[in-house]
Amino acid sequence: MKRYEKFAEDIAELIRSGVLGPGERVPSVRYASQTYGVSPSTVFQAYYLLERRGLIRARPRSGYFVTHNAPWQFSEPVVSSHVSDSTEVDVDVSELVFSVLDSIKDPQTVPFGSAFPSPMLFPLPRLARSLSSAARNMDPRWVVTDMSPGNPQLRRQIALRYMVGGLMLPMEELIITNGALEALNLCLQAVTQPGDLVAIEAPAFYACLQTLERLKLKAVEIPVHPRDGIDLGVLAQTLERHPIKACWCMTSFQNPMGATLPEAKKRDLVALLRKHQVPLIEDDVYAELYYGAHAPKPAKAFDTEGLVMHCGSFAKSLAPGYRIGWVAAGRYAQKVERLKLMTSLCASMPAQAAIADYLQHGGYDRHLRKLRYALEEQQAAMLSAIVRYFPAQTRVSQPAGGYFLWLELPEHMNSLKLFQMALAQGISIAPGPIFSPTQRFRNCIRLNYGSPWNVVAEKAMETLGRIIRSF
Ligand SMILES: Cc1ncc(COP(=O)(O)O)c(C=O)c1O
Repeated sequence: MKRYEKFAEDIAELIRSGVLGPGERVPSVRYASQTYGVSPSTVFQAYYLLERRGLIRARPRSGYFVTHNAPWQFSEPVVSSHVSDSTEVDVDVSELVFSVLDSIKDPQTVPFGSAFPSPMLFPLPRLARSLSSAARNMDPRWVVTDMSPGNPQLRRQIALRYMVGGLMLPMEELIITNGALEALNLCLQAVTQPGDLVAIEAPAFYACLQTLERLKLKAVEIPVHPRDGIDLGVLAQTLERHPIKACWCMTSFQNPMGATLPEAKKRDLVALLRKHQVPLIEDDVYAELYYGAHAPKPAKAFDTEGLVMHCGSFAKSLAPGYRIGWVAAGRYAQKVERLKLMTSLCASMPAQAAIADYLQHGGYDRHLRKLRYALEEQQAAMLSAIVRYFPAQTRVSQPAGGYFLWLELPEHMNSLKLFQMALAQGISIAPGPIFSPTQRFRNCIRLNYGSPWNVVAEKAMETLGRIIRSF
């Protein structure tokens, strides 16, 4: 983190904690520079950054002041606690999910409903160089030797990244897959039989629901708090009452709500599942997209018995379309590896080699810093558009990473109808019911801010706000 970023983070924390309230003046440049021992240009850079994030505004000849609609002054969505009846449900959402996904493929559509960040945010030309060099240098024997668990250089690079994050993982645990989605599917398959019960989040990522549907598994929905994630009290009761065979959960920047479990809660989650000997399938595809100073630790960091299968991906942070993900599968590694061999043998060899080359020589951390910065700014732009155009009762999540906002609109809203009306105006959104096997969350939507903000996005938010107000 650069000096001005650190200083901006300190001021942001003062605003976040209420020490500096709305409308209050932030320290003058001269005072801040003398008091904090930084140069005036560092203070200016920090204040420009906070201004771009919508936290402070300059007033001519008066200095900088905290804004009245700083992003975190929104009401947050309520906890999905009405879900806590912990009943078993069959999953049948695919038709609805496919109808939503099909309709948002048109590149002319404003992609607020998309699951992906804009490809423009990725270092595609540099990756292409890695791909061509990897293809040129590929030993033909790798086709046999690098079959699952996968390319050893890539697995070593992934293990190194875990190590830098404080997690020592034996290479044998790591299996390269066709994206995280395949890893998640194989993990669930490794620990369940048709008819089994799986604890999932409510709301949950829709592909999780589709995986349960495909494997003929039943779901028990566990409520999610919009800031700190899955409700451990309800999960504990569910584990007492039902023969749960696996828990599938996102511990950081949950899709769609954006919640991140604090470290202690991750530790408790692992302890609870250990007590019941239930494996955790940890979907952590947004792990690298954090806005704070440090990456949040995964629940896997607290796993002493190999019960956690930690799934990651390069699709959201580096190389969309290369379809490279992985799992650190703990005690289930051999089973997952064999399932991988039985379903698709291995992930694409040139793509694996390209990413291994990029991780070694391409400047991944530099790219990630830029990406996180862009996403955080885009979040501020979308939040400030919500303030301007959406009804005042709108509740919004404010995740500290990733690229989704979860919005709770007034009670009477029907987000499926809103989806159709917005699409007719060339705007996609993800309606709440696709995130639940019981199609709850009718008045909720998920919006994607993973594309650079521009006039088109601003106009689309204005139109969306107008449609919402017309209900
Ligand atoms: C929460 C979540 N998990 C997993 C995936 C799948 O990741 P991949 O593209 O690596 O298969 C996605 C993709 O949208 C996602 O949003």
